[in-house]
Amino acid sequence: MISFNLETKLRHLLNTWWPAVNTPGCHVTLVQGLTAASWRIDLDDQIVLVRTQTVEKSVLGISRKREARLLRRSGKGLGPQVLAQSNHWIIVEWLIGQCATNKGLNALNQCGALAEMVAGLHRSPLSGYRLNLQKQLASYWYQLDKRRLTPAWLGYQQHFLRTTPPTPLKIAPLHMDIHPGNLVISTTGLRLIDWEYATDGDVALDIAVLFRNNDWTSDQQDCFLQHYTQHGYPAASQLHAQVQHWLPWVDYLMLMWFEARWHQSKQAEFLHLGKFLRQRFC
Ligand SMILES: Nc1ncnc2c1ncn2[C@@H]1O[C@H](COP(=O)(O)OP(=O)(O)O)[C@@H](O)[C@H]1O
Ligand SMILES: [Mg+2]
Repeated sequence: MISFNLETKLRHLLNTWWPAVNTPGCHVTLVQGLTAASWRIDLDDQIVLVRTQTVEKSVLGISRKREARLLRRSGKGLGPQVLAQSNHWIIVEWLIGQCATNKGLNALNQCGALAEMVAGLHRSPLSGYRLNLQKQLASYWYQLDKRRLTPAWLGYQQHFLRTTPPTPLKIAPLHMDIHPGNLVISTTGLRLIDWEYATDGDVALDIAVLFRNNDWTSDQQDCFLQHYTQHGYPAASQLHAQVQHWLPWVDYLMLMWFEARWHQSKQAEFLHLGKFLRQRFC
């Protein structure tokens, strides 16, 4: 159930963008996910997704304006189409299809379709929003539960803020959160949803995030890189080394995200997900 106020706001918003729609008849549902701030709206003749800018999203570095820019400029044909946007909302199309499963993701990796898709994204026009990973880490620091800090953790934070990140191999639009729940096997092919962390940055960083998000074995990683180099950055050994350089950064970023989400939501799931990273860094 959603609150009366929010539903009224959503209906008003829809009425503004689709005046012809009989809004009392539309059906509003909260889309569940790890960071739910999205509402699926079933209209008479189409389904849309309203993605809101909340305070929690803002402190995690999420901007719907950036997301819309990435979708419009870099994700054309790959992500959902942006139907409308304001400073506080974006409305995107709801893709008809099924999310991938772990097994499905593995199959897409084995046949090369996943690498082809990612390389396609990495050939798209830049959004103009460049990732500043160290700024992101510095801002996550203020979102943590200070009672959980340890001297070792402070040492790692200082290390990552003082160390120069790997020099990019190739700057491109990155999705930064590819996993089965963000891949839709739609009627129009393989599509990527949930672009809230998308940004411009080094292609090898996106690949490092993909590897860690999905806990891939070295065989699965090699398989991806083998396919990817046929469509994207061609120098296999250089790309492999660059991904290795990014992995500790990705691990630390993930720890910071889980801890910040824990502090925001108090959902034990985030502590569970970050458990091994905490053992390593803290
Ligand atoms: N544009 C879309 N088209 C179809 N399904 C979507 C779309 N956006 C979200 N979903 C569904 O909702 C789920 C959660 O949405 P998502 O934006 O990924 O939230 P979270 O940030 O919590 O992961 C997705 O895994 C998918 O099943
Ligand atoms: Mg998602």
